[in-house]
Amino acid sequence: MAVVADGRRILSSIVASQMAEHARYGGVVPEIASRRHVEQINLVLQTALRDAGVGFRDMDAVAVTNRPGLLGALLVGVSAAKALAMALSLPLVGVHHIEAHLYANFITHADAAFPAVALVVSGGHTDLFHLKNHGDYVLLGRTRDDAAGEAFDKCARLMGLDYPGGPAIEAAAKSGNPSAVPLPRAWLDGTPDFSFSGLKTAVRRVVQSADPPPVADIAASFQEAVVDVLVTKTVAAARQAGAPPRVLLAGGVAANARLREKMQAACDEAGLPLLYPPPALCTDNAAMIAATGYFHLQAGRGSDDLSLDIIASEPLAVRAHVPNPGGS
Ligand SMILES: Nc1ncnc2c1ncn2[C@@H]1O[C@H](COP(=O)(O)OP(=O)(O)OP(=O)(O)O)[C@@H](O)[C@H]1O
Ligand SMILES: [Mg+2]
Repeated sequence: MAVVADGRRILSSIVASQMAEHARYGGVVPEIASRRHVEQINLVLQTALRDAGVGFRDMDAVAVTNRPGLLGALLVGVSAAKALAMALSLPLVGVHHIEAHLYANFITHADAAFPAVALVVSGGHTDLFHLKNHGDYVLLGRTRDDAAGEAFDKCARLMGLDYPGGPAIEAAAKSGNPSAVPLPRAWLDGTPDFSFSGLKTAVRRVVQSADPPPVADIAASFQEAVVDVLVTKTVAAARQAGAPPRVLLAGGVAANARLREKMQAACDEAGLPLLYPPPALCTDNAAMIAATGYFHLQAGRGSDDLSLDIIASEPLAVRAHVPNPGGS
């Protein structure tokens, strides 16, 4: 839960992490997530207001993630947000979680604006978007199998590293050689799509081989393989989208220092300004939800009523319709 002023000033941002509990199972357990949401929500709300130094009456609007995600957890947040909005007569804004990852860039960068090409790399998504304006997005490409964050988590498990796998692999990779272990890169030539399942299988083979290399070398080589594909495809998509003025990076994997470093170098070379949020705003946080609500209302996109529903799965955008020259 977070209190954000003017879309950019974070007055408080509370993350009630359940990571330690889910780590025992190597991933998020939906039932545990819902129960913890119910237990924590009132306390987290009080703490967010107290830390911000504001009261209920100081709020101008309530924003809440209503899609996509685990229904039990979404239901708890949306119910609480509806109660607040109704009791305080405030506008309610249902936010798409992936749109919020994008808007994390608007919190810290005054020059974040549209148009842009954006790469969202998170636990459940690896999507490339052309962002034309607030709420006007086109999908350029997406993963055909695992998301990049999912690949980090699954491969970390294969390597015997902790959950979540992204930070664990990044830490292990620091003392490893990124070219020590030859690993495949799925280029899917001519498409802006991604695939990480072959890389995962290759890591499994290396880990289970008779004489496996040191984990640090596997981690560094895996990270390099993921980063190479993400960087090359993002810059290619940005060029193809008609050289938009900026490239945005978002989502949990965007916290990865190697990805930030190589993306920066490639964008510098291509003459494209690159923006990414600080690491704490890359992984899930409430400040990005509040900021999205602010920009949503500012852009005149309207508010929701108490019929706002929760949705397990919904893409943020679809691919542009390409007319068939054959006419059929
Ligand atoms: N430093 C890092 N390097 C690489 N990956 C990272 C790093 N930090 C976090 N991640 C990965 O980011 C993912 C979590 O990101 P995020 O919180 O955005 O995902 P999510 O909310 O579960 O998924 P989605 O946003 O797609 O619904 C995990 O897969 C985690 O391993
Ligand atoms: Mg997320």
